[in-house]
Amino acid sequence: MSKTMKVAVTGAAGQIGYSLLPRLASGEVFGPDTKISLQLLEITPALKALEGVVMELDDCAFPLLENIIVTDKAETAFDGVNWALLVGSKPRGPGMERGDLIRENGPIFVGQGKALATCAADNVRVLVVGNPANTNCLICMKNAGDIPKERFSAMTRLDQNRAKAQLANKAGVSISDVSRVTIWGNHSATQYPDSENARIKGKPVTDFIGHVEWLRGEFIETVQKRGAAIIAARGLSSAASAANAALDHVKSYINKTPTGDWFSAAVPSDGSYGIDEDLLFSFPVTSDGRSNYEIVRNLDWSDFAKEKIAKTHEELRAEKAVVQEML
Ligand code: NAD
Ligand code: LMR
Repeated sequence: MSKTMKVAVTGAAGQIGYSLLPRLASGEVFGPDTKISLQLLEITPALKALEGVVMELDDCAFPLLENIIVTDKAETAFDGVNWALLVGSKPRGPGMERGDLIRENGPIFVGQGKALATCAADNVRVLVVGNPANTNCLICMKNAGDIPKERFSAMTRLDQNRAKAQLANKAGVSISDVSRVTIWGNHSATQYPDSENARIKGKPVTDFIGHVEWLRGEFIETVQKRGAAIIAARGLSSAASAANAALDHVKSYINKTPTGDWFSAAVPSDGSYGIDEDLLFSFPVTSDGRSNYEIVRNLDWSDFAKEKIAKTHEELRAEKAVVQEML
């Protein structure tokens, strides 16, 4: 056993952090031959709570967990990291949209982008989870100096997982029968979960779900508004499923995508599908197994899809305009 993966997690004392850290330390993501060094960033008032989390990690006696750094300094947290999971930021409350957090959370990603540029390992990959995730990631990427922009992504994997579960449930099939689920656009209520390009047992979804009105109505709305439904029910935003999605995201980057499938991630647009360059837009992507992705090209969009995708594109343009001074 020779490798050590240095992973930074911000907001490590928060709800998502609590679900994320033990699973990262267990080796489930990077495998049994890779030791893990956790580099945990919190704001100063939360360091005491984070000490408690660290005690619990110690008490798990994870054989692969080599080292834990706890800090309120981004430069220390990001020193030499191979992956940076940027979770730390305020969650929304009932009645808010994720975009309402932009002025409060956006500035966090200016400083963290700069710190990553000076301190992270040459091969760093950055996943932004904190909301509004796409635009926070844009801010981070634009402040991160020479780090290639392809290293940045924002999380829409939770939306993909939600869409997959809805389709499997409606069709009465297992989750593993559902493939090619794309979330297009923003991690927000305008996102477009695409059932037209998805497959069930390798066939069009409509072979299994004949109720097209459901696919174009309730299915889309359920996925778009699932985060708000969880907040309404729990009084807190999703945490276990969000942590799970972050781990799924990393696993999908570091493992080769199975032939014929893809996963969804918000990555900087290269102009594919007419999306403005650099906007962090959720696309279908595949990985070569070494954390390099490619956007899946040439998927068909129906007129229905085009209208939905134009709306989420517009929303991301508007968010970018709001944070222009941070870019
Ligand atoms: P939480 O309030 O439980 O935890 C957030 C933590 O971040 C807190 O401990 C806080 O002290 C810390 N923090 C705040 N500012 C920080 C900074 N500048 N540096 C480091 N840490 C900082 O919230 P949570 O439930 O863990 O959610 C975290 C974020 O993730 C929220 O913005 C939430 O909306 C978002 N989220 C995104 C998705 C997604 O699918 N993209 C899913 C769920 C939640
Ligand atoms: C989610 O989708 O569950 C998160 O983005 C939290 C939220 O605010 O909805």
